[in-house]
Amino acid sequence: MAQDRRIDPYLAPQILVKKTRIHGIAMQPRWKAQIAKSKIQNLKSKIQMRLRPFRPDDLQTLYEIDQACFAPGISYTREELTAFIGHRHSQTWVAEEAGKITGFLIAHREPRKILHIVTIDVLKAWRRRGVGSLLMEAAEQWACAHNLRMIGLETAQDNLAAQKFYAARGYRKVDEIEHYYADGTAAWVMVKELA
Ligand SMILES: CC(C)(COP(=O)(O)OP(=O)(O)OC[C@H]1O[C@@H](n2cnc3c(N)ncnc32)[C@H](O)[C@@H]1OP(=O)(O)O)[C@@H](O)C(=O)NCCC(=O)NCCS
Repeated sequence: MAQDRRIDPYLAPQILVKKTRIHGIAMQPRWKAQIAKSKIQNLKSKIQMRLRPFRPDDLQTLYEIDQACFAPGISYTREELTAFIGHRHSQTWVAEEAGKITGFLIAHREPRKILHIVTIDVLKAWRRRGVGSLLMEAAEQWACAHNLRMIGLETAQDNLAAQKFYAARGYRKVDEIEHYYADGTAAWVMVKELA
């Protein structure tokens, strides 16, 4: 795919999702208890979810995830991924659940205090469980901690899921770039100003 996408594995923070407690389940009617039970199951799944820095032996798995997430020609080659991840201004977070990689995010620090999201990839089976949000939170926190003023990204005009995902996190469309992707699809440029 187009342009620059790209880690400094030594700087990537390790983030654990905090445990959250639910009170009073035993005292509730059956339907409430069932809702509470499913909440607990969701939380249990989140409790095991963690982020960690990239390790060189992750490369093949990240490559396979990227191939699964994007169409041929838009997904990255191994060489491109290696270059993005290894760039000295890049940062990569890897999401794991029970030792299995479920997604990753590569971001590149640009001039003018901007963090550019190179790619965010979550395996299909793990979507809508908060993995993408966890990865974006890590990138946003990193950007805030480094006094950056904005996060920017491109997403395909027809990638409605990604557009909704970013919009739900406060990103807004500021531009459109025709023929951005190798298959001719236009890109939306979306940004979020950091407080
Ligand atoms: C976009 C992507 C990273 C989202 O990851 P995710 O782990 O599913 O996201 P989350 O579970 O954290 O979703 C957070 C919120 O975003 C919104 N959202 C995410 N996916 C959505 C979808 N398919 N449709 C509508 N809203 C969606 C929802 O508001 C969701 O909250 P909810 O599940 O409580 O309703 C994931 O779909 C993905 O990897 N897609 C393929 C690769 C890709 O397109 N990457 C972006 C390229 S720019």
